[in-house]
Amino acid sequence: MADEFNVIEIRNLWVIINGRSILRDVNLEVEEGDFLGIIGPNGGGKTTLLKVLAGLIKPTYGEVKIGGKKLNYNSKYIGYVPQYSFFDYDFPITVEEVVLLGRIAHKKGRSFSVYDREKAYEMLQKVEMYDYRHRQIGELSGGERQRVLVARALALEPHILLLDEPTASADQRFAAGFYEILRDLNKEMTIILVSHDISAVSKYVNNIACLNQTLYFNEGKTISPEVIEKVYHCPVELIAHGVPHRVLPPHDGVVGD
Ligand SMILES: Nc1ncnc2c1ncn2[C@@H]1O[C@H](COP(=O)(O)OP(=O)(O)OP(=O)(O)O)[C@@H](O)[C@H]1O
Ligand SMILES: [Mg+2]
Repeated sequence: MADEFNVIEIRNLWVIINGRSILRDVNLEVEEGDFLGIIGPNGGGKTTLLKVLAGLIKPTYGEVKIGGKKLNYNSKYIGYVPQYSFFDYDFPITVEEVVLLGRIAHKKGRSFSVYDREKAYEMLQKVEMYDYRHRQIGELSGGERQRVLVARALALEPHILLLDEPTASADQRFAAGFYEILRDLNKEMTIILVSHDISAVSKYVNNIACLNQTLYFNEGKTISPEVIEKVYHCPVELIAHGVPHRVLPPHDGVVGD
């Protein structure tokens, strides 16, 4: 068997926009098959980091390697589910067609192949939205749409799946089902999940990182309350939209700063 392989390697990454540093000296290695959660305050740079990985924002300084190679801006390696999808939901397009759009990078010739369609169906089944395939995307609820957008990212057959707040518009039951789907997908691919839902994140991920301009990473899913407080500048209990709950066990397995 091959040694552990880092599917993502970020060294000394800076993103500076209009003279303001959005990301400062971020370093991160993600092993193949990992399920990494990224938490952090609003404006901390989480979306920016995912966009760098998806090839949508260029690093100002630093090196980013995906699959052992320098960032390739046409990478089929990464499936990306954005935080806000500027999709025109009045546009008359069916769920199935939206997912097929995820196959565009693979498309040869003018039309989608039988294989493209099979893949689209397979991914719709994975996110349990197959029965909705003929519905207009505009008719779905926010949480259902989010699943369709995950199916679209999966249709690319990526090695890495990046998800930016996928459960922001999902209710608790829906979110729990969604995380179960991610857990299943994680058997086949590396997942990076950005979420403010810290209790859910700490339940499902293998590793957790906090991002507030710079990245605080400890191996494992326990991060000391001190680190979280340093990153969020607020008591741990106040995170996750003010819902008071303890994020992590107070003593057991807490990794030091
Ligand atoms: N294109 C841009 N031009 C200028 N500033 C930007 C741009 N994109 C992001 N920023 C700024 O960079 C910072 C980080 O934004 P980002 O969207 O990455 O944060 P985030 O951690 O995803 O926040 P949230 O939790 O609210 O989604 C913010 O202060 C934002 O205003
Ligand atoms: Mg964001």
